[in-house]
Amino acid sequence: MSVNTLNSASLKADFPLLGRQVHGKPIVYLDSAATSQKPRAVLEAMTTYYDDYNANVHRGAYLIAEQSTTEMELARQKVQHFIGAPAQEEIIFTKNATEALNLVVNSWGRSNLQPGDAVLLSLLEHHSNIVPWHILAKERDLELRWISVGDDGHLDLSNLDKLLDGVKVVGISAMSNVLGTVVPVRAIADAAHERGAVVVCDACQLVPHRACDVIELGVDFLAFSGHKMCGPTGIGVLWGRRELLEEMPPFLGGGEMILDVSTEGFLPNELPWKFEAGTPPIAETIGLGAAVDYLTDIGMEAIADHEESLTAYALKTLEDRLGESIVIHGAAHPRGGTISFAYRDIHPHDISQILDQHGICVRAGHHCAKPLMRHLGVTATARASLYLYNTESDIDCLAYALNETAAFF
Ligand code: ALA
Repeated sequence: MSVNTLNSASLKADFPLLGRQVHGKPIVYLDSAATSQKPRAVLEAMTTYYDDYNANVHRGAYLIAEQSTTEMELARQKVQHFIGAPAQEEIIFTKNATEALNLVVNSWGRSNLQPGDAVLLSLLEHHSNIVPWHILAKERDLELRWISVGDDGHLDLSNLDKLLDGVKVVGISAMSNVLGTVVPVRAIADAAHERGAVVVCDACQLVPHRACDVIELGVDFLAFSGHKMCGPTGIGVLWGRRELLEEMPPFLGGGEMILDVSTEGFLPNELPWKFEAGTPPIAETIGLGAAVDYLTDIGMEAIADHEESLTAYALKTLEDRLGESIVIHGAAHPRGGTISFAYRDIHPHDISQILDQHGICVRAGHHCAKPLMRHLGVTATARASLYLYNTESDIDCLAYALNETAAFF
């Protein structure tokens, strides 16, 4: 099988870090589900901001302050178009996806959930779409329900109707950060809406890898982070339906998020600034805008095709070369390029450390998905995750190094 939708070998040259060596070996970066590498265009956009027009936004009436405000708001429009959002006011910049999800739970959740209300989550969720609900559930006496996962890594939706009975909100990951499962978000959202529930989607692993349209997904809130989509750390996005955002109280209080303040109280700002308290991550927002441009120029369809082909190549190569000594967790289809595995009886952390000696970066651990780990009956997995800059040669290196790992033990 050949991967020909993207020229990833030449794309690597866009990413300065991918030119380095680790332990004397060319780096093979297979941890993009944790964070992606950053192309030069993103780094330059951020440096240009600091070099040429570093000033606070929405405040100064001088040229460079107007320029920083314009560039930041331009980045908001780029993100809006990237995810098919109807309005730029619906794009809220946060510190990361975790903060975006906490915003929904604390603002929408506190205003709308009463003791006895039920929240439906899935066992594929990352802790960031679990723990905030646990905190509110304890405080408000909410019931948390769970959509289970089958052996193949798909959600078990056979009893969805029953699970949705009386549910006020559904929190759902669009793509598993452990198994790569692509979740049928639209079908779940439609079923939830029929019951009058609101749908909060964690799209951290989807937005960087697939063309996304919030209207087609049919959800009410969508959270994702910049650093997994070629952008910098420190910037996340919450998209929400305007009518819901309008009714929600602010999450954090301070500068930027007010129209007026007196000794008696305050008047919140309009969307989106109502939810953006304090000086925002300006350089990071501009960097995210450059990342959106970079991905758009390459084309999200081409990226998705490339990852699909490369994932198939990876699964076949690992199976052909390592046989029964490797166990891939889950067998979902469709799936993204995130591959969790067990290899012989070697601990995932040992696998990761030995692969590191070959210049190969994979993540080992619970991947912030402990309920899923418990369901799989493991405490940790090794995880290789692919992105647009990975090649068949990267996969061949992984298979070769895993064989070497076996010899070492
Ligand atoms: N959520 C990120 C991961 O899965 C950090 O690695």
